[in-house]
Amino acid sequence: MSHTRVGVRAASPLDFHSVVALRRDIAPPGVDRGTRRAAVDVMTARQTHGMLCLLAHDEDGGLFGSLECSTSEFANTRLATSNALYVTEVAVAASARRSGVASALLRKVDDVATLSGIHSVYLHVEAGNGAARRLYRKAGYEELDATPLHSSFAADLGLYSGAFAGFEHLLCRKRFL
Ligand SMILES: CC(C)(COP(=O)(O)OP(=O)(O)OC[C@H]1O[C@@H](n2cnc3c(N)ncnc32)[C@H](O)[C@@H]1OP(=O)(O)O)[C@@H](O)C(=O)NCCC(=O)NCCS
Repeated sequence: MSHTRVGVRAASPLDFHSVVALRRDIAPPGVDRGTRRAAVDVMTARQTHGMLCLLAHDEDGGLFGSLECSTSEFANTRLATSNALYVTEVAVAASARRSGVASALLRKVDDVATLSGIHSVYLHVEAGNGAARRLYRKAGYEELDATPLHSSFAADLGLYSGAFAGFEHLLCRKRFL
């Protein structure tokens, strides 16, 4: 697969089942992602609160990558900030990796941020996820110091409980203004 064949578009609710299937396909063994129905319901609820799901697809429309971006994560957190976007659930099918798929998705996030007057895009990456850390660095994200404020944001998002417990979550930011 070459970079030029990667298309990126916004998902509609009709795509959510495929997105959930992709996430389940790449989930590490032992990670409980709940039922498909529940995961689709979560996406649907998030979309009603402004979440945008981006899809990477081939020429035939086949899905091989996705991410979500939204502003709702900042509500009621100590990092409460306006004009910021949060990216999560970055996922690329194993067969399509190292072909620029995630990079193409992140470039579309840049477009969304620029067009929407967003000043910063934030995301979390697990410290042990070297591939993702290199991806984000290359895409222009800086890893922020683990200040109490940044750590409290991770806690507010629930990143220190449930399936995320025991991981070190690094907050990354890309500034636009
Ligand atoms: C991390 C992930 C999203 C990368 O997707 P991808 O489409 O393969 O990434 P890209 O092809 O756009 O890679 C861009 C750059 O990131 C870095 N990178 C990506 N995967 C890498 C790997 N396995 N090892 C080292 N560097 C890697 C490289 O610098 C790469 O540029 P290069 O190929 O020119 O060297 C993908 O491996 C994935 O879905 N992993 C499982 C889910 C996950 O970890 N998501 C992130 C959660 S924070």
